[in-house]
Amino acid sequence: MLRHTLYLAIFSASLVIGAPLSADGPQPGQSSYYSTYRGKTDAFPANVTKAAKPPTPNDAPGDDDLLFQNLLSAEWAIYSFYQQGVARFNASAFEEAGFPNTTYDRISEIRDNEAGHLAIFQEAISSGSVRPGACEYQFPYTDAASYLELGTLLEVSSMAFLTGLVLQAKLDASKATLVAIAEVESRHNTWSLMDVWRANPFAGPSDTIFPYANEILETTNLFIVNGSCPPENPPYPSPNQKLPFISNVGNATMKPGSSISVAFPDEANQPKFVDGKDYYLVAFHGTNNVSSPFDVETGTAVIPADIEPHRGIIIFVIADCPGAPTLESVVAGPLIAPQYS
Ligand SMILES: *[C@@H]1O[C@H](CO)[C@@H](O)[C@H](O)[C@H]1NC(C)=O
Ligand SMILES: *[C@@H]1O[C@H](CO)[C@@H](O)[C@H](O)[C@H]1NC(C)=O
Ligand SMILES: *[C@@H]1O[C@H](CO)[C@@H](O)[C@H](O)[C@H]1NC(C)=O
Ligand SMILES: *[C@@H]1O[C@H](CO)[C@@H](O)[C@H](O)[C@H]1NC(C)=O
Ligand SMILES: *[C@@H]1O[C@H](CO)[C@@H](O)[C@H](O)[C@H]1NC(C)=O
Ligand SMILES: *[C@@H]1O[C@H](CO)[C@@H](O)[C@H](O)[C@H]1NC(C)=O
Repeated sequence: MLRHTLYLAIFSASLVIGAPLSADGPQPGQSSYYSTYRGKTDAFPANVTKAAKPPTPNDAPGDDDLLFQNLLSAEWAIYSFYQQGVARFNASAFEEAGFPNTTYDRISEIRDNEAGHLAIFQEAISSGSVRPGACEYQFPYTDAASYLELGTLLEVSSMAFLTGLVLQAKLDASKATLVAIAEVESRHNTWSLMDVWRANPFAGPSDTIFPYANEILETTNLFIVNGSCPPENPPYPSPNQKLPFISNVGNATMKPGSSISVAFPDEANQPKFVDGKDYYLVAFHGTNNVSSPFDVETGTAVIPADIEPHRGIIIFVIADCPGAPTLESVVAGPLIAPQYS
């Protein structure tokens, strides 16, 4: 369980005008709807998946509009994952697979929370900017167990990119919103670690800070059905480095001190390693990062041993400088490896 790594990617878009503002439905923080809706069909505001044109397009964009456009696009994917689970499974599907009899209800409640995030992020985008709509998404799960496993990975990833987005936010109010949303994702993740996987849910003293949030968002493009996004959607994420994805090869446990062998699964997007130049596997964990030499011939490296084992997540990138000190120094990745055991 939780052995799989997560490499995600992103999308283009397709939509129509006149999607409702969140004000047209239940208000997060005022209505219990975003905890108690139990329908099998889409929760508000996802009953309208089109992009919304700016009500007043000539207005200057808000300071954090780009951030919230990126986040809303990511949220559509996460919401859709949970909505798919609600639509496809029922309580017995999870029980028969050996999970607690509360699992389906929790998944429904997480779906509702994610719908509330859609409403919150829609409202955070100013009236001068497009509110991205939903694409179609395909997720790599086949049954109740692999569904729950992917859900856990999505939650840890979202906590990591929310932390990184705080570094991009210009308004203090946006920073507070991001922390408050991350706290909710952390609760979802705590629930799944304890109840679903019967694991220790703690992450050590700090969860992982990964400063290049858009690099994680890029990986969610892998879930988007090509050409399915509303045409009015802005590019996602923006900016987007179009980094090569990394996958780990074989049964590597991805534990500190062990060796890791990586591949770049997108044949059309391979890293361009310069002959004679040194490259590094940079492992972000907690508030730190540790680097080790990356052998470009064999695609291998040793995961730095001096990382706290068994807790939280490690986020790996390949960089042309130890510590990946700049965005441009990252040449491939990221790869997210949960360490819960
Ligand atoms: C979406 O849901 C809201 C709240 O339940 C409802 O007012 C609205 O009519 C729905 N819109 C569509 C297109 O179904
Ligand atoms: C759950 O879904 C299965 C498969 O579709 C169905 O056979 C079963 O009756 C459902 N159980 C409940 C409690 O709805
Ligand atoms: C769910 O499981 C718990 C303990 O495993 C049990 O006490 C409870 O009766 C079950 N509830 C339902 C609705 O099956
Ligand atoms: C989606 O587009 C990407 C890049 O354009 C391409 O590599 C991939 O094969 C496409 N996938 C499908 C399912 O068409
Ligand atoms: C991976 O682990 C599984 C289960 O332990 C084993 O059956 C399989 O042979 C292993 N694969 C490789 C490539 O080592
Ligand atoms: C990684 O750690 C090094 C050394 O502490 C630091 O200089 C560097 O800025 C860190 N990288 C990032 C991306 O924060």
